[in-house]
Amino acid sequence: LAVSGRRLRVAILGAGTVGREVVRAFLETPARLQPADGSPLELAGVAVRDIARATAAGIPARLLTDAPAHLVGAQDVDIVVELMGGEEPARTLVAAALDAGRPVVTANKRLLARHGPSLEAIARRAESPLRFEATVAGGVPILAPLASDLGANAVTRVRGIVNGTTNFILSAMAHAGRSYGEALAAAQAAGYAEADPAADVEGQDAIEKLVILARLAFGAWLPPEAIPNQTTDDDGAAGPPGIIGVTAADIVAARAAGRTIKLLATAAPAGGVPGSIAARVVATAVPVDSPLGRTSGVLNRIEIDARPVGQVAFEGPGAGGAATSSAVIGDLIAIARGLGSTWAGLPEAGRGRVVAAEHEAYLVGPSGARYPVVD
Ligand SMILES: NC(=O)c1ccc[n+]([C@@H]2O[C@H](COP(=O)([O-])OP(=O)(O)OC[C@H]3O[C@@H](n4cnc5c(N)ncnc54)[C@H](OP(=O)(O)O)[C@@H]3O)[C@@H](O)[C@H]2O)c1
Repeated sequence: LAVSGRRLRVAILGAGTVGREVVRAFLETPARLQPADGSPLELAGVAVRDIARATAAGIPARLLTDAPAHLVGAQDVDIVVELMGGEEPARTLVAAALDAGRPVVTANKRLLARHGPSLEAIARRAESPLRFEATVAGGVPILAPLASDLGANAVTRVRGIVNGTTNFILSAMAHAGRSYGEALAAAQAAGYAEADPAADVEGQDAIEKLVILARLAFGAWLPPEAIPNQTTDDDGAAGPPGIIGVTAADIVAARAAGRTIKLLATAAPAGGVPGSIAARVVATAVPVDSPLGRTSGVLNRIEIDARPVGQVAFEGPGAGGAATSSAVIGDLIAIARGLGSTWAGLPEAGRGRVVAAEHEAYLVGPSGARYPVVD
């Protein structure tokens, strides 16, 4: 998309937790959407399912439609922002927009993690920018810095706490002595966990974010279903996924060893084979007095180890409509300034292979779960 003084008209698909905040920015702070060295952005329309609910939330009726495919295909739409979530119809709409040469911004980690290779192929063929900063760690800028500002480096490891819901639950268990069930109920009451928390507590959400991080760090799209999300017992048998098997007694035992338990997503190149990545998202015993150990509540923290820079870390609000809108709007401004896709400057990614991570040591909890120990 050439940078010109022409206004770029933006279609937003979805006006929920995140979409509502992006729409609000267009309506209330339009100056933020006028980059000094790029094209000004303006709102063309907003697609939702329930128009009455969106009008009640303050979105003018003249902007609303319940026909997202029409909005994506409208003659006067230049950029599509997908904030609906889920695989379909998001995948079809995003693919259609890219195919038609329209830049897309999305916050949809599931879409990217499960359809990344095909969407990257379409975006590259059609030369349509695809930006997705909000898919990982909400408002924390991590993907564009990884792809571009750290472009001089060879990344040797990416690891982090990338799911605020599970970190809230584990923090409540560690600090308030709550059971897993009590902590989950508190997270739901505070709006940090959904009524059906499975994608968060079983680790799928963190796996999807790790796939996206690995794409930018190592140039390979990993199959999400191959990334382990279970601890093992002494016999090597897999335990419950994510954090659902973590008990209060396990956390007390970890504490006695100077550790706390975090759902840690880790990926590192393995065995010198290009595209082979040791990746896992498992409950891990980290030093209680370390930056990861001190990352509490819904905060996210991602550490990048790379040569020549050493270690750099990114920390901040990993979710929430307002924080996440920061990343979405940042991507819109990047497009208006002609900066291309999130992976701009990197070669096209191939498909990667997940291999088992080597664990040096474990902490065995009273529940029988073996938590990898890392420093
Ligand atoms: N929430 C966060 O903190 C956060 C952080 C980072 C990334 N994300 C990602 O951002 C995306 C949006 O999340 P969210 O929390 O904003 O979701 P949400 O609150 O559930 O909102 C989804 C919106 O999309 C609309 N929608 C869904 N399916 C639709 C369809 N088939 N046709 C038209 N409209 C449709 C919904 O309309 P109705 O209300 O009318 O049904 C609603 O306005 C997801 O991919 C999520 O993973 C969210």
